[in-house]
This record gives sequence, structure tokens and C-alpha cells, in this order.
Amino acid sequence: MKRACVIGWPIEHSRSPLIHGYWLNAYGIDGVYTKEAVRPEDVQAFFASLSERGLAGCNVTVPHKAAAFAAAAVREESAKAVSAANTLWLEGGQLHAANTDTYGFMRHLELSVPGWNDAHRPVAILGAGGAARAIVFGFLQAGTQDVRVLNRTRTRAEELAKEFGSRVTVMDWDERENAARDAGVLVNTTTIGMNGEGSLGIDFEGFDPACVVCDIVYVPLETELLARARAAGLRTVDGLGMLLHQAVPGFEKWFGVRPEVTPELRALVVADIEGKTC
Ligand code: ATR
Repeated sequence: MKRACVIGWPIEHSRSPLIHGYWLNAYGIDGVYTKEAVRPEDVQAFFASLSERGLAGCNVTVPHKAAAFAAAAVREESAKAVSAANTLWLEGGQLHAANTDTYGFMRHLELSVPGWNDAHRPVAILGAGGAARAIVFGFLQAGTQDVRVLNRTRTRAEELAKEFGSRVTVMDWDERENAARDAGVLVNTTTIGMNGEGSLGIDFEGFDPACVVCDIVYVPLETELLARARAAGLRTVDGLGMLLHQAVPGFEKWFGVRPEVTPELRALVVADIEGKTC
């Protein structure tokens, strides 16, 4: 039997077991995917004991992503770009690391809005944490020439921009509406809007309808930002698709099948989100 898990501290709220459990069942694979609460002081020992525990690998969530990157012997470009890993697997006796958030976000964007990059317009990213890094990297890989980063704490945005080079520029947090106005894509990577709390305060009136508005927050599924964008006639991309697609590469590494993100899987996770938020 093949085994994998997700680790974090805390971990109770992870929806990864629901996603991977669905695929194990759908593909008739003899495997298990569990969640494990691992304290920060125990995480290195955990990574060293994957093989002993019979694990093919694991997903890694907050606060262990930097530690996972550090522990790996072989690191994919996706992990190097953000100095963090969310997916680990054993291969040839060595620990390999990837960061599949970039893939998850970009894949969901491409599937949701196939022509998003036709006009080669600027992109505006709100936030400067790990998720912002993964997404900035995705747009740079996709060839975007003007990636604008805006963060409440400007110095964090400046550090991020320095790492990624001249195609990434920093704008003031207060400029977010202007930064987005002529953008082809606006992405919220901050926690604003999570559980219905806070507001980005962006008024989309007068925006070019070609602008695509994305949120990586997926509880609620339609955040205040997405609701405002939709009301103004803009296309929106929710955060749930990123969560589902980022899970694909790990499942393939551990269980040997490239799984599909189906409407049935999405409905299952939506029901879970709505069940817990109603
Ligand atoms: P992750 O690594 O998951 O992306 P993070 O590093 O905790 O998460 O980053 C959270 C982001 O949300 C940051 O950009 C944070 O801004 P700061 O760098 O200024 O802290 C942003 N954020 C959280 N709460 C915010 C708020 N109330 N207003 C503006 N930005 C907020």
C-alpha cells in the first residue's frame, strides 16, 4: 500500500485528505493519504523519517514550507524560485521538493480564462508573502513584462521585487485601484476577505472589462473582491481551483497516476466548505 500525508501545525482544517482521498477512490488505488500535526521543533526529524514511516512523500503547509525546502536534497525550479516547498517525495533514495502553487494557480487561470494573456497587459499582485512569490514566478514564466506588486508593508514587496528582477515593480498599497485599472489580471494573495473579514476597497467602476480578477482566498468561494468584480462585469477566478490543481503533481509522484480535477471533485470540496461555513 502506498502512503502519503499532509503535515502542518495546526493541520485540522486541511482539505488535502478530502482531495487525495477522492482520487485514490476514483482511480482504485491501494493507498492512503492522512493528515499529521507536526510541531516546528519536530519537523526535521519527520522529514528524515519519511521512508521509515512508509511514506512515499508528503504535502507541507504552514509553517513548514521553508523547512521542507531546506531539508530536500533535490529541488525543482518551482521551489527554488520561492525558497519554499509544499510537495516532497522520495526518489532514488533522495528527498525531492517542488512548490506546486505556481502550477496550481497558472493552470486554473489558463483553464478558467484561456485568452487571459492575449493582450500582454500588466499584472497586479496584492501581497508579498509565499503565495505572492509563487504567483509572481508564474507570471514571469508566462512572459508577463510588467508585474506590479503592492503590499501593506512596502519593504516586503521591495524584497520580493529584488529577487525577481526588473520585470517586477513595486507600487504603494494605496495605489491598488490605479495599479489594477489598466491591468490584464489582478490577484489578491493577502488574507483580506478570508471568512468574510476585511475589504480591499477596490471599486471596479470604469475598469476595462478585459481585466480578470483572481483571489486565492476560497472561504468564502466568492470573496468580497470577486463579488464586486463580477457585479462590474469583469471575469473572476476563484481560489478553489488553485487548491485543487496544486494537488495534482504530488498525487502523481506518490501514487503514479496523473489525476484529473473533475467537476465532481470540485463539488465535493465546495460542499465541505459550505457545510462548515453555513
Ligand atoms: P502567505 O505566505 O500564505 O502568502 P503571509 O506571508 O502571511 O502569507 O502573507 C500574508 C499577506 O497578507 C501579506 O502580504 C500581508 O501583508 P503584510 O506583509 O503587510 O503583513 C497581507 N495582509 C494580511 N492582513 C492584511 C491587512 N489587514 N491589510 C493588508 N494586507 C494584509
